[in-house]
Amino acid sequence: MDHAGTTGQAIRHFHRLDDLNDRQIEDVLDLAARLKRGVSRTDLAGQTVGLLFFRPSLRTRTSLEVAMHQLGGHTVNLNAASDFWELEARENRTMDGVAPEHIKDAAAALSCYVGAMAIRPALLGKSWAVDRKDEQIRSWMQHSRVPVINMESALWHPLQALADLLTLRETLGELKGKKLTIAWTQSPTPSSPAVVHSILMAALRSGMHVNIAHPTGYDLDADVMEQANSLAQTQGSRLETGLNLNDAAEDTHVIYARSWWGLESYGQPSLSAHQSSRTTGWCVDDRIMELGDNARLMHPMPIRRNLEVSDRVLDGPRSLIIEQAANRLHTQKSLLSLLLRQ
Ligand code: CP
Repeated sequence: MDHAGTTGQAIRHFHRLDDLNDRQIEDVLDLAARLKRGVSRTDLAGQTVGLLFFRPSLRTRTSLEVAMHQLGGHTVNLNAASDFWELEARENRTMDGVAPEHIKDAAAALSCYVGAMAIRPALLGKSWAVDRKDEQIRSWMQHSRVPVINMESALWHPLQALADLLTLRETLGELKGKKLTIAWTQSPTPSSPAVVHSILMAALRSGMHVNIAHPTGYDLDADVMEQANSLAQTQGSRLETGLNLNDAAEDTHVIYARSWWGLESYGQPSLSAHQSSRTTGWCVDDRIMELGDNARLMHPMPIRRNLEVSDRVLDGPRSLIIEQAANRLHTQKSLLSLLLRQ
């Protein structure tokens, strides 16, 4: 992101929340709150953002399209499955394989047409050691001549983190000292830990205490946890992981539910399915919610009802999932406006 904001510090790309300094996060959240209250802004007339999807999306695509439309600009949407061909991400290769074009050339060409590119990269799904490098989005960032926005890579989902931060602030007010519980949930189609990594770092950065509940074999990325532990120490926050759901939910203010792959069995579907099928009871229901301190429920969606979270919790007053989805629009309008108007 190349937004100088009120800090004077320019940011080239938005790969993770750490690409924004504290002042810039405040700018994004403040403007998002004003836009949500009905302030109109159409300062992106004539601007175009390219949205490139290498995996499906419902919320991210729709909210970004509507965001650009409401700001007076528009988007060009490209789905890898139907609109273009495979792209090579690796450098210094003789390109005699399936991909007829390198990201280097595609990024340079698209940079001639759009003011920014948002990318949801593919996950190869064979090895966490490979996917965690985020090579595809890094290649776009390296070769694009315009800002690149990450729409969820293997490691990070910063757009979700901005919406979640706004939702947390609207719900809890001051976040420092409040308690967030990240709860692994059951699903036959788990996700990468990108959302969980992002909310973990966002919450710690806001001074929240974080409990992470997950079964054995579902530890988050070791390098991200090292960063999280270091941040917790700096912030004076408590960070506990590997807890069971009951202990983690005790006195918490927010339970953030999400299913993620066991990174030890990542890329081994039969081992992963076996491991997951032996893991039962990881559903957030009324009993779990009651353990908290007037706890609220968050989840980025899509969500499997009565497997990850019960109908009663999702449809009850504790659920914030629609507020989160709504805030995707406001925070992305704010981010795009600050990013592109210069
Ligand atoms: N939360 C989120 O990113 O939703 P989509 O996968 O539908 O975009």
